[in-house]
Amino acid sequence: MPLYHKLGKIPPKRHTQFRKEDGSLYSEQLFGTIGFDGMYSNSYHEQRPTQVKEIKKQYSVAPKIAKKNNMQSYRFRGFQVAPEKDYLESRKAVLTNSDCTIILAAPQESQDHYFYKNTDADELIFIHKGSGKLRTHLGNLDFKYGDYLVIPRGMIYKMQFDDADNRLFIVESRRPIYTPKRYRNWFGQLLEHSPFCERDIRKPYELETNDESGEFLMKVKKGDEIFDMVYASHPFDVVGYDGYNYPYAFSIHDFEPITGRIHQPPPVHQTFETDAFVVCSFVPRLYDYHPKSIPAPYNHSNIDSDEVLYYVDGDFMSRNDVDAGHISLHPAGIPHGPHPGSVERSIGKVRTDELAVMVDTFKPLMVTEEALKIADETYYQSWLDGKH
Ligand SMILES: [Fe+2]
Repeated sequence: MPLYHKLGKIPPKRHTQFRKEDGSLYSEQLFGTIGFDGMYSNSYHEQRPTQVKEIKKQYSVAPKIAKKNNMQSYRFRGFQVAPEKDYLESRKAVLTNSDCTIILAAPQESQDHYFYKNTDADELIFIHKGSGKLRTHLGNLDFKYGDYLVIPRGMIYKMQFDDADNRLFIVESRRPIYTPKRYRNWFGQLLEHSPFCERDIRKPYELETNDESGEFLMKVKKGDEIFDMVYASHPFDVVGYDGYNYPYAFSIHDFEPITGRIHQPPPVHQTFETDAFVVCSFVPRLYDYHPKSIPAPYNHSNIDSDEVLYYVDGDFMSRNDVDAGHISLHPAGIPHGPHPGSVERSIGKVRTDELAVMVDTFKPLMVTEEALKIADETYYQSWLDGKH
């Protein structure tokens, strides 16, 4: 996040002696991105963060591809993904390409016996159901329904849930996730026409500092495999840090919609950007107010991007048959649009209560075996007359 943040205690000058009360040195770590060109943070640890004791095992969590080259529009019933106790095991990849993986998860239990670190990808976790605390080595963030959690690659974290009823929509991105550049000025400050501003960005507020030694299991993801690594020092042992590289939260309910006299294009809903996909938030808003406006979207050909829409809540005007937790996939190359009847039905409507998250990927998505388990195989014919 291009926003300076400082938490805990740090020395006045970087890379200088910073000592504990007993006279020994804290261990400094520079945590950089994009080589030394991206955002970074400087953290100070009770112990050296390098103390690997053992690499126990290594196993694949690569998505299993069912359809590599896909031209079929799909609806996936996301809430049919079965809940599982363990957080990592509950994560089911449904769509993937070389830039990103879209995952559904219904974890029932908090991570109590291991830490997790994804070195492959930034993670964007949308909280559809559930609440709790994201605990990280750079501080904690509370989360609840409607929150996006942005966890840059390499953050060590634990998900702590308040209860067993959780539904998460996750995007793993091999490209860094940023807020849209066009909403920031030269200095990185969010501009007046941005649909959100710095006050809406929640930064880590609570630092857990443990000075324990022992055996600490960290599951580290790299190259679509998990490495079970045992560390000799507690991974949450930071006494302070500052910089720009840290996890943060943003609520979809704090996204201020941009509306107009005629139908506004998807970029007005944009919330995050990468150079491989965009993420948009469709939130409750007033419809277009031209006297002859058509609130339903026009048919559109996203000729060079796959469009994934995750339906969160409310009434979805352009579709006849979607429920919360559904995902629609409209692949690049062919047009899609409102279902029969929904254009006329939309005329005269003043507002919508829909809440949805859209991911548009610039490379085609492959459909996984997990996705086919929850797929509606007839959805692609749903624009035919008489089908609805
Ligand atoms: Fe669309």
